Amino acid sequence: MKTLHFEPIHETLQVPTRTDLLQALLAKDLKVLMACGGKGVCATCHVHIKQGADRLTPRTPREERTLGYITGCAPDSRLACQARVLGEGVVVELPEGMYIERAEDLMSLLGQRAQANILHPINGAVLIAKGKIITRTRLEELKALNVEVQQLREAT
Ligand code: FES
Repeated sequence: MKTLHFEPIHETLQVPTRTDLLQALLAKDLKVLMACGGKGVCATCHVHIKQGADRLTPRTPREERTLGYITGCAPDSRLACQARVLGEGVVVELPEGMYIERAEDLMSLLGQRAQANILHPINGAVLIAKGKIITRTRLEELKALNVEVQQLREAT
C-alpha cells in the first residue's frame, strides 16, 4: 500500500501499489468527468504532481501528446488515468475549475455567475471565467461541445 496526498483539499488515501491516480480520485468521491473514459486523450483528469513525480510510472507517448494541447499544462502535469503509483508520499494537486461535458450541464446555472472557471473537457481551455455570468447566448455557443465530446468518444 502507498499513501497519496491530495491538495488543496488536505486529504490522504492509501492505495495498492500500481493503482492509477484516477481510481484514487474516484475513491475519494472527487468528481472526475473522464470525458474519454480513461484513455488518455482528454483534459478532464489533468492533475499537477507537487511531490513525488518520480514515484509514478513515467508519462506514456499518448499522455505526452495529450498534455501537449491541454491549456494550463505545466512540467508537473499528469493525466490521472495514465499515472500509476509506485512509491510513497505522492502529492497530487487538483486543478481549479469545473469541467463540463455538455452545455446543458450549465442550464441550472443560467443567469448566475460562475463559481469557478468552467473548462473545456478536451483541452482544458476556460469556457466561462470565474465570476462571469452564464448567459443563454454562451450556452448556445457551447452546444458544439456535445459534438466534440461525442467525436472524441468514437475515436477512442
Ligand atoms: S480520463 Fe481522459 S485523459 Fe484521463
